[in-house]
Amino acid sequence: MQDYLPGLAGVPATKSNISDIDGEKGILFYRGYPIEELAKHSTFEETILLLMNGQLPTSQHLENFTCELQSNRALKYHIVDLMKTLPETADPMLMLQTSVSSLGMFYEGSECLTGSDVCTDLDYINSSTIKVIARMGTIVASWKQIAYGYDPFPTRYDLNYAENFLYMLNGREPDPLLVKILDICLILHAEHTINASTFSVLVNGSTLSSPYSVISSAIGCLSGPLHGGANAKVLNMLEEIGDPKKAGAYVDQQLEDKKKIWGMGHREYKTKDPRATILQGLIKELLEARGGDVDPLFEVAEALENACEERMGEKGIYANVDFYSGLLYKEMGIPEKQFTAMFAIARSAGWMAHWREQIGDNRIFRPTQIYLGEGPRQYKPMDAR
Ligand code: COA
Repeated sequence: MQDYLPGLAGVPATKSNISDIDGEKGILFYRGYPIEELAKHSTFEETILLLMNGQLPTSQHLENFTCELQSNRALKYHIVDLMKTLPETADPMLMLQTSVSSLGMFYEGSECLTGSDVCTDLDYINSSTIKVIARMGTIVASWKQIAYGYDPFPTRYDLNYAENFLYMLNGREPDPLLVKILDICLILHAEHTINASTFSVLVNGSTLSSPYSVISSAIGCLSGPLHGGANAKVLNMLEEIGDPKKAGAYVDQQLEDKKKIWGMGHREYKTKDPRATILQGLIKELLEARGGDVDPLFEVAEALENACEERMGEKGIYANVDFYSGLLYKEMGIPEKQFTAMFAIARSAGWMAHWREQIGDNRIFRPTQIYLGEGPRQYKPMDAR
């Protein structure tokens, strides 16, 4: 019998060509391209194509794909109606999971997939990919209006992904700097090897269930505070600390109480997550563009990061992607409850790329277990217990 490794730490669950992490050096690659290069030069639309196809697209391919995303943005009124029936206090991740799952009742499922054969139906794969990714942003942006009791702002066909999202969120022309920052955030969060939610994509996809079921299960998985849900927790923690001078004492107390510091630590990285470095830089850029006022919470965050590094750096625990993303979203005017849903919008790109890879060379996941329970025994009638 093989060793059991809790959390499957270090156990390869698949072979993949999509992304790679050098956890010692703190480097992340999408299809061989370092994340810093993509954040600097690419767009979310281009990054989706890179993740899906393995190559940077030609300008014609990118233009066609952008048009397809734009024309698939709108939600059928049935789905908007369904969203209107949800409680306005609903957790946006549960709302997103429900809404994405409902898409599966209106669009083609996985009927065309046949057992363990390689799936070569690129039309089906591409059309499912566009339907999911295009609508994720629409659903999240619409929810802000719907939760306030209003109809969502209509989608725009003349805007790119980030522009349309911000337009739908606020109902006005988006600020170009916020568009640029959001586009980078979408690139940074688009993919990250076999994390918990992506693993759920492989497991769910391996049963040949519909892509809407695959993505709604991944959304549920991402929502937990040990995964994507950490970004909102970080903001609450920074507010609780409130003063950079209190950061060290806070870390000491948390460690003494054996509690986690949100946004710190990562299974793969033993140094600072490169995405956290970029997000930290974006907060500075935004604050400088606004006249250099320093957000007190940003000062708390930097002090907390230093305090964590002093105390936990030698254990390889450093800031992860969630440490600065919530603070950045707050500065961008995105409602706190929607932070994790922002992550999900971007990650739908990586999820769909892994779904494609899984169904292209599929075998159903069916691991084994080490049974520790009772041996065979006889049923006891009620009066003999
Ligand atoms: N704060 C305090 N201690 C932490 C920590 C954190 N954020 N992250 C890890 N540690 C400690 C653990 O307590 C453990 O200590 P021990 O060896 O004394 O028991 C050790 O580091 C290993 O941590 P472990 O939880 O086993 O690592 P993991 O690989 O299973 O988990 C995370 C990785 C991300 C789930 C974990 O670091 C964590 O919970 N971080 C906070 C939540 C978060 O930010 N999640 C977003 C991830 S992108």
